[in-house]
Amino acid sequence: MPEREDGEQQPQDGEPRREDRKQQHQDGEPRREDREQQHEDGEPRGLAGRVCVLAGGTGGIGSVLARELHAECVPLVLGYRRDRVRAEARAMELRGSPGAAIALVEGDLAEEETRRALLAAARSLGVPYGLVVLAGDPARPAGAAPTPAEMEASVRDNYLGPILLARAFAAGLVAAGTPGAIVLLSTMQGVDLFEGSLCYAGPKAALVHAGRLMAKELGGASDVRVNVVAPGVTAAGMAAASIRRGKYDRFVAGGAIRRFGRAEDVSRAIRFFLEPDSYVTGQVLTVDGGLTLRRDVLAS
Ligand SMILES: NC(=O)c1ccc[n+]([C@@H]2O[C@H](COP(=O)([O-])OP(=O)(O)OC[C@H]3O[C@@H](n4cnc5c(N)ncnc54)[C@H](OP(=O)(O)O)[C@@H]3O)[C@@H](O)[C@H]2O)c1
Repeated sequence: MPEREDGEQQPQDGEPRREDRKQQHQDGEPRREDREQQHEDGEPRGLAGRVCVLAGGTGGIGSVLARELHAECVPLVLGYRRDRVRAEARAMELRGSPGAAIALVEGDLAEEETRRALLAAARSLGVPYGLVVLAGDPARPAGAAPTPAEMEASVRDNYLGPILLARAFAAGLVAAGTPGAIVLLSTMQGVDLFEGSLCYAGPKAALVHAGRLMAKELGGASDVRVNVVAPGVTAAGMAAASIRRGKYDRFVAGGAIRRFGRAEDVSRAIRFFLEPDSYVTGQVLTVDGGLTLRRDVLAS
């Protein structure tokens, strides 16, 4: 499976990208882009102008999402942990094309100082609306079984930091009385049982549960929605090198999935949850091409 490169207009498998498709459905119904900017009851549509924080927005999936949102004039705070060179390159690329403001924040989400800095950067761009927590770590143990230290690090990276940030972000929205959307990134291993992934999957499963619990607590009049996207094997970011090495070829060759995921597949699901007129909360959307459903075909 060829891995997509940024900026290509069409994936190498020839499947057309969204931008290339017709602007209306066959029955004449206009696609979303063409519709009015608000509903009849006055609820606004569209993300333009709504400040979003993408924690981990400089990684493989995050940078595709950032590019799409930037093009829609969404002011963005991009958080990253340590790769400053890459983060600055991403920000420079975005600032070089039309869109809204971009702020960069460096630091570990598990540190309170980082979380505060992300929230302050969002407020400096306007009224905070969206949070997408893309930050995560594949938590691959060095040996056959993860050590307690490796497990602790995974809990910190894949659960504690993301949930503490989501909680702080939600508290800010509730205090300000403004609506918002929070999207957490789990993984197919957090919603189904993949042997050997305990170190990574355990905290990612906890993230799903905590996200749904937050949605329940924040529901009702406050209008803060929380949802989770659980990607499968995606040809970007932390899975890209493994895909290149052929680690997951058996999933395609064995007929479980037709292709690996693209970052765009995941960003589309995230954007669905971010939409300000969305009526969906407390849900988990697995974006894995059916791998969790069909993995059993490999055993037969
Ligand atoms: N790619 C896949 O196939 C796949 C599959 C399932 C689930 N996911 C999930 O989707 C999310 C995005 O994946 P990706 O492939 O885009 O990851 P990625 O390319 O490795 O990017 C991760 C991003 O998060 C940042 N980050 C990591 N740990 C952090 C921490 N403790 N504090 C602050 N920032 C931190 C990284 O910053 P630095 O690089 O500067 O450290 C980077 O910006 C992750 O949560 C991942 O678990 C991905």
